Amino acid sequence: MIDQLTFTVIKADCGSPGGHTQPSRKMLEVVERIISQEDWVLDHKITHTGDDIAILTTHTLGTSSSTAHKACRAAFDAAAEVAKEEGNYGAGQDLLATAPSGNVRGTGPGVAEVTFDLLPEHRPAESIAVIAADKCGPGAYNMALFHAFADPSRSSGFLLSPDVGKGFTFDIEDMDYKAEPGDLTHRIVKLNSPEENIEILTLLRQIDRFGVARIHSRAYPDEIAVSVSTDRLHNITGVYQGKDDPVMVIRNQKQFPAVEEVIDPFRLTPLITGDARGSHTMPLMPVPINTPVAGAYCLPIVSCLAFSVNGEGKFSENGVDIFGNLAWDRYRAQAQERADWMRQQAPFGVAMASQEEISYTGLAERQSALEKRFESVTEETRD
Ligand code: 13P
Ligand code: MG
Ligand code: MG
Repeated sequence: MIDQLTFTVIKADCGSPGGHTQPSRKMLEVVERIISQEDWVLDHKITHTGDDIAILTTHTLGTSSSTAHKACRAAFDAAAEVAKEEGNYGAGQDLLATAPSGNVRGTGPGVAEVTFDLLPEHRPAESIAVIAADKCGPGAYNMALFHAFADPSRSSGFLLSPDVGKGFTFDIEDMDYKAEPGDLTHRIVKLNSPEENIEILTLLRQIDRFGVARIHSRAYPDEIAVSVSTDRLHNITGVYQGKDDPVMVIRNQKQFPAVEEVIDPFRLTPLITGDARGSHTMPLMPVPINTPVAGAYCLPIVSCLAFSVNGEGKFSENGVDIFGNLAWDRYRAQAQERADWMRQQAPFGVAMASQEEISYTGLAERQSALEKRFESVTEETRD
């Protein structure tokens, strides 16, 4: 029996055949082979959402372990090598810098990690969901997390469970903050829900700048509920290099919202920043795990794998592919319908991403060239 368990999800885009679609079979095989040989791994799963490979591991090394991070980076490097051999597009796309400390944060791959006491008296079963998205920025989860962890009018756990009713502490990150390379400092504000819900909304509505990094229970302040990867690729490179495509770990049930409360807001197929060239506003479509990106004009996608962990840190044999269920078919259709509406007016107005996001793309050069051509005219000097 293990006392403290760490659950680590690290994801990276290592390349894909035919555009930004999905990793090849051989790329996934090489990642599986490398991770399954690591002796620190208690259990693991390899999944993909669009072109992003996610490595899920349980271990006892704690968060930010250089052993765990280095092994995942090595597996991604090997997948990128396969991608190169196969001639795939964007080989090694998210493997931007090497990490002298071994910690992959700030070097391209996205990290969501939680460390917790395994099966204490107040939490006799460990239920976890991993939510992974492709073609979107880290703020893509803001709306869902607000509804699930701060909104009693949507999430009835606040009314039905005294522990959930005590609320949650949100760590909200300023994703514009750029630390020096190798410096792992983040700019975070801690806000308590429900009394600071308006402050939480003030920040979270700005999905391109502020993202939820972590959420803790207030009934059990040592218990972490949520960890989200909040790294921004353009902060590392200064230019558009693919979208951040966040992963999120959500411990659920008991003193946290139930899994149905956590996934419910995804019915709303929120309009988020991402899609083609990471430069549009489009709805987030819930899809089964291991889905390729093949939608008209990309379409941002999100998957959810739910499972349990036992006292030895082993995953339950059958996880549940939540958005793979037929109940989600109508929300897929809803997302496509919303997407068709948005495409009718792109690139005008809100159909394209905000000017801040666009400023990392080639459009910025055209804009600054045009700035120089503006001249001041009066009614007298006008042609
Ligand atoms: P990814 O961020 O998933 O690599 O997609 C990049 C892109 O430009 C798609 O059009
Ligand atoms: Mg890609
Ligand atoms: Mg991607």
